[in-house]
Parts: sequence; structure tokens; C-alpha cells
Amino acid sequence: MPSISDCKCVLVIGSTAGIGRSLALAILDLPSQPTVIVCGRRKERLDELVASHNATGRLKSVTLDVLSERNALKSSIEDIINAYPDLDAILFSSGIQRAFDFTKPETVDLESLECELATNYTSIVRMITFFLPHLIKLGEQGRPTFLYTVSSGLSIIPAAGIAGYCATKSAIHSLSISLAVQLKEKNVHVVEIIPPLVESELHVFEGTTQRLSNFWLSLEEYTKVTMEGLVRGDPYVPAGMVVEQHKKFEEGKLEAAMKMYGQIKAMTGK
Ligand SMILES: NC(=O)c1ccc[n+]([C@@H]2O[C@H](COP(=O)([O-])OP(=O)(O)OC[C@H]3O[C@@H](n4cnc5c(N)ncnc54)[C@H](OP(=O)(O)O)[C@@H]3O)[C@@H](O)[C@H]2O)c1
Repeated sequence: MPSISDCKCVLVIGSTAGIGRSLALAILDLPSQPTVIVCGRRKERLDELVASHNATGRLKSVTLDVLSERNALKSSIEDIINAYPDLDAILFSSGIQRAFDFTKPETVDLESLECELATNYTSIVRMITFFLPHLIKLGEQGRPTFLYTVSSGLSIIPAAGIAGYCATKSAIHSLSISLAVQLKEKNVHVVEIIPPLVESELHVFEGTTQRLSNFWLSLEEYTKVTMEGLVRGDPYVPAGMVVEQHKKFEEGKLEAAMKMYGQIKAMTGK
């Protein structure tokens, strides 16, 4: 089973903090010694990360705002591919979270909701589309390549107070299944990372950090469990309480989507 251990060059989008930062450093430490490119908007954090963890010279950085206008985003991604032609895996960890109270619809800030949708979903589909020609080309040369999406346990059971966020994560979950099915024949492996509540800077409810910290998985523990799944080459990588939720509500879905794809192809010839 091809896995993260086969990757030569891994780009982690959204690695100035939290899950992305921690997974980027764990990937850097793999015995396979890949190049790791950390990426996000906050240049000072990227500089600090590279300065403090680059004894090997394999840690690189790129600044990127995933909300850049579509053509500018495409051009930034082409620049990354040109600078790192060995790039064979992209992990999409950029994300934001907002709370909306639909019992008081006048308070729902649609500007903010649409920004959340664009950050967590639209930008990811755009970037995947822009990276794919390169990945498919490598795949055709016999090199397995990888798209690592990051959804959430909340894509399975939503938390109503952050309805928009959960919907974006369900969209990523569904997209990940469809892309895994479509791209299998191209040697592009789509792996969905499905975190539970994890220590990070993401959470929006003011003043709850202290209480949340009683429930969340520490970054250290989360990273350890997730890296085990990535190294095994699992097609989806839940952790903590999401393992059970995934088993209960999602087991067999990927296989069913594979089957349906085959049936529809046989019926339509497409
Ligand atoms: N922590 C959890 O409990 C949890 C649970 C399930 C799923 N997740 C998912 O895990 C992923 C990582 O979340 P986290 O908890 O690690 O959050 P975090 O600590 O807040 O980190 C979010 C990352 O996203 C980047 N980002 C946000 N907007 C961006 C933009 N416009 N352009 C480029 N980068 C952007 C941030 O970098 P800059 O601000 O520097 O750009 C930062 O590196 C997210 O997709 C989140 O939905 C988290």
C-alpha cells in the first residue's frame, strides 16, 4: 500500500499552527527523509518554524493566502510546482471556524459565513484542481502521489452551533470520497484525515479554551495516532472518538461509492 513514507516532497498548507504544523514536523522526521514545505499566510511564523527546525535543510516555506483570487491562486500553485518538481503530496490543513445562531437570523453574518465556505471548501477544490495535472503526470510515470484532505468528526455528526463549519467539512468528506474513487486509476491517492477535537487555535467560542482543553486530544497524541494511519497507507484516518463514529455511520461508504462509479461507468460508457 503506497503511503506517506513513499513521498519525496510534501507541501502542508495551513502549517503555521495547530494540526498542520504538528503533522508537518512529524512528516519531516520520517525515516524516508522527505522535503517538507510549510505554508500559510503568516510569514513570521513560517520563518520561525524553518529557523528552529531546519537542521536537515529539508524544511522549506512558502507564503500563500488560499483566498487569493482564482487566477492568482493558480499562478501561485504553478510557482510552487516549478520550484519543487518532486512535489508528490499535498496536505490541506488550512481552515477557519465560525459560530452562527440561526435562531437570531439577523445576527448571521453572511460575509463571514461565505468566507468560511471559501476557506474550508472552495479554495481546497480550486487548489486540488490546480495541483492535479502535475500529480497525474507523476502518477503516469509510475510514482504514487497523494492528496491529504482534512475534514472533521463534525462532518459525520454536526455540532449545531457551528453549522456552517460542519457543512464545509461534510463537503470535504464527500469530495474526498469522490476524488478517491475517480483518481485511483491515475495513481493519485486521496486520503481523508478526520480529526476529533484537537488542541489548536481554531476554536471560536470565546472563553471556552480552558473547558475545551478538558476534552481535546493533545496535539502530541493526535499527531502520533494520525501518523500511524498515514504511514500504514490507510484510505481514511480518523482518531480518538471519531474512530467509533466513523465505524458506526460511515463504514462501507467508500467501497459503495467505488461500486456505484463502476456501475454508472458500465451503464453510460463514461
Ligand atoms: N482542532 C480541531 O479540533 C479540529 C478538529 C477537526 C478538524 N480540524 C481541521 O483541521 C485543520 C487545521 O485546523 P487547526 O485546528 O490546526 O487550526 P489552527 O490552529 O487555527 O490552524 C489553521 C491553519 O489554517 C491556516 N489558514 C487559515 N486561513 C488561511 C488562508 N486564507 N490561507 C492560508 N492558510 C490559512 C492558518 O495559517 P495562517 O493564519 O498563517 O494563514 C493555520 O496554519 C482545519 O481544516 C480544521 O477544520 C480541526
